[in-house]
Formats: sequence, structure tokens, C-alpha cells
Amino acid sequence: AMRVDLDGLVNRVSDGPEKDIFAKEMEDFYRLFTRYLHEKKHSKPLNWEKVRGPKPEDVIAYSDLEQKDLKGVAPLLNKLAVLKLNGGLGTTMGCVGPKSVIEVRDGQTFLDLTVQQVEHLNHISGADVPLILMNSFNTNEDTRKIVQKYNAHNVSIFTFNQSRYPRFKSDSNLPVAQSPENKPGLWYPPGHGDLYESFANSGLLDQLIEDGKEWVFVSNVDNLGATVDPAILQHMADTGAEFVMEVTDKTKSDIKGGTIVDYDGQVRLLEIAQVPKAHVDDFKRVKKFKIFNTNNIWISIKAIKRLVASQKFDLDLIVNHKTTDDGTPVIQLETAVGAAIKHFNGAHGVNVPRSRFLPVKSTSDLFLVTSDLYLLENGQLRMNPKRTFRTVPVVKLGDHFKKVNDYLARFKTPPQILELDHLTVTGDVCFSSDVTLEGTVIIVANHGAHIDIPRGAILNDKVVSGDLRL
Ligand code: UTP
Repeated sequence: AMRVDLDGLVNRVSDGPEKDIFAKEMEDFYRLFTRYLHEKKHSKPLNWEKVRGPKPEDVIAYSDLEQKDLKGVAPLLNKLAVLKLNGGLGTTMGCVGPKSVIEVRDGQTFLDLTVQQVEHLNHISGADVPLILMNSFNTNEDTRKIVQKYNAHNVSIFTFNQSRYPRFKSDSNLPVAQSPENKPGLWYPPGHGDLYESFANSGLLDQLIEDGKEWVFVSNVDNLGATVDPAILQHMADTGAEFVMEVTDKTKSDIKGGTIVDYDGQVRLLEIAQVPKAHVDDFKRVKKFKIFNTNNIWISIKAIKRLVASQKFDLDLIVNHKTTDDGTPVIQLETAVGAAIKHFNGAHGVNVPRSRFLPVKSTSDLFLVTSDLYLLENGQLRMNPKRTFRTVPVVKLGDHFKKVNDYLARFKTPPQILELDHLTVTGDVCFSSDVTLEGTVIIVANHGAHIDIPRGAILNDKVVSGDLRL
């Protein structure tokens, strides 16, 4: 019945290239759907006995790589493309539109900073590294408008669209969409694992091969630490590995991230959703699984081409249960880019410094990256050398700060936090300009209360509560 419905959807598009793309997408979706049905019937839970920590050669230390600078790898840079995963929206931070258009620093967006990084790279190495954006139907239009302003810059920007798959009802297993039109809630971008197929479908993969490109460096557009690293690029060339995943040491707050394991002798990415319930605590234990995936991934372009064509390139299914606005339970099938690690030759992890993982998932993260804790150089954030401890403070801003607009309204200017270790703010709190926060600062405005932190205030190891109005 799914097949009939999908064919019906395809037949409603008039003949032409658009129809061909849509038909291919529905075919790819159908393959994923068939796997879902099969796994639902025959799925065997992961055999936890076979899950081991990675073998020493499966995750190597960044410090063991030969250190290089960008000029030193210029010939290799000419064989590199940078790809940002840009299919996601900024809904968690209360924004409409692509997450990458949120202003993160000095009025510049994630996209602006990314373009500057690649431009700088080309400038100092003399190489021609293209920037590729994988958009989704949710982000394509807004993104293209924004990148137009870079037409005259020293960086070639290419975009392609990832697939658009139909959500289906969990009881009937039939698509919610009655027509191919893009009405809200009926279609979805199927996760960043879709990169491989949509990259190949777009024709851009072939074009890069023709242009002599050998590797693509993939990362989340919201990870401001994901710059091109010359030592890892050199390592790709030296080892011939087809896939390198940058991982970094877990702290107590990253217990949910996917980790590299040895499964029955094979390198695999293990996500928390795949772990049997009885072993979830085991999975979260920082001692046993020490590292997590940053989603900075270096991949051989030719290997992508080979694997996509092989038809045996299955990625672990993520079954995402959702409810539509009218209360219908639906399913969207997704995949993750890192899950492909098991298919590539010589695939392994490199344990990189934490500074390569600087994601902005919440306004608490935004608070950090806009502060004086970092300096901005050529689109790159560098920790301020004036910070004595090289660690990042723990910041927890409450629900009143959750949306970017509320957050901006509550901080007149970003506070100075060079000496801050810990900040918790809950309730209706506003900060005037020139505030300095040091040590551990806790500010609590209980329900109905309001706190104004006055201009020029210096809070050092302080708890503020009650009702304080200017
Ligand atoms: P995710 O939504 O997977 O975020 O997007 P995450 O790192 O797992 O964490 P949460 O969900 O924010 O807590 C990671 C990157 O992948 C892109 C997003 O735009 C983001 O850059 N992405 C995600 C796509 O390009 N396509 C998708 O279908 C999903």
C-alpha cells in the first residue's frame, strides 16, 4: 500500500527533472521504509556482550599526528572540499528559519563565520577549497539568499538539497501527505545520514571528482570549532583511510553523544538509542566509553561514490516518533552521517582537543561564544589567552532565556566572564551593561519576582535572590 501511495504522489508531478528527482527520493525512502518493516519484525536487540571499548588503533590521539600548518598542506588543500550540514532549523532556540542564520558574534551568523574561515584558508594557502552547504527544503531558500552576498568573494560556494521524505502514520503505515506539495508537518529532512545519497543524487559528488577533489570535511554548521585542521588532512593522505571521525573526551554533560565501539571486531558508532535499556547506565559511564562523536568527519569522495552505488550502504535506522498538530501519531525514519563508519576502509577515530567541538545548541552556548571568553580571528573563535583556566564555565540559563529574542532582551551587553566558573540564572532576570561575573554566581528570581543586575556590577562568588528592581 505504501508503494501505491508513493507512486500516486510521484504521478501528480508533471514530467521533467523535478519529477525525476522526486521519484528517486521516493525510491530511496521506500528502501528505508522496507528496512523499517523488516527490522520491526525480525529485529534482534544489540548483543551487549559483543560491545567493547574501541581497539587502540580504532581511536588515535590527535597529539600523535604530525603537526602541520595550512601552508604546509597547500597541495592537499586543493583536493579538499568543506561541507556544512545545514538542513536544520533553529526551532530549539525559538527561531524561524535556518539555524545557520542566527547571529552568533558581532552581528555575524554561523554562515558568515564559515565563509570567512574558508576564505581565510584559501587566502593563506593559495588553495581553492570550495564550501558546500547541504540544505533541506526547510533551509534552502533563506540560505541561498544569504550566500548571494558572497558572489564576489574568494570562495566558491555550492549548495545542494537533501531529500524530502514523507512522514507516515504509525497505525496504517501510509504517508500523511495526500499530494507532493510542501505543506507543514507532512514532510521532513531525514537526518544528516542522508548526505551520502543526496550528495550523489545532486551530481555535485561527480563534479568534485572531476575537479580532482579527494576528500570532504563534513561538520555541523553550528559547530564553530570545526575548522579545517591541517594535521588531520595530512593524516588522511598518509594513511589512505577513507573515513576519519573526530571524537573528543566525554565530560559528565556529554553522556548522550554517540561513541566509537568495537562490535564483534568491527568499528562502529553506537548511539544511546541503540543501547538496550538495561545497559544505558553502562553506556553513559564516562570511564568505559571515554569519547563521543563531534560529527566532524573526513571522508574520501571516491569511497562515497563507490558505496552509494553498491546498494549495500545501509545506515542504522533512527525511528523518530512524532505527533502531528492534529494529534496523529506519525513516524519519520532518519539516519546519521557517522553511522557510515562501519562501511569505509581504514575508518577510525582521532581524539581531538575539546576546542574543535564548540556547538551552539542553546542560548547558554550563545552566552559563551558571544562573551570575552573568546576572540574572533578570521571567522574562528579562539579562547582568550587572558583566561587563566583553559576550561569553559558551566552556564545554565533558565526558561526565561530560552529563545534568542528573550535572551537578547535580557542582556544589554554580554557580561565579562574571564574569571567565571559557574553561572545559574533562573526566573525573570535582566542584566544591564558592563556586568562582570566571577567564580560561582547564582541568580534566582522566584515566581512573581524580578531581578535587575545594575550597570557595572561585579558579582564574585555570589548568590542573588529576592526582588531587586532598578
Ligand atoms: P542535529 O539536529 O542532528 O543536532 O543537527 P544534534 O547535534 O544531534 O543536536 P540537537 O538535536 O541540536 O540537540 C546536527 C547538524 O546536522 C544538520 C543540522 O543543520 C546541524 O548542522 N542536519 C540535521 C541536517 O543537515 N539535516 C538533517 O536532516 C538533520
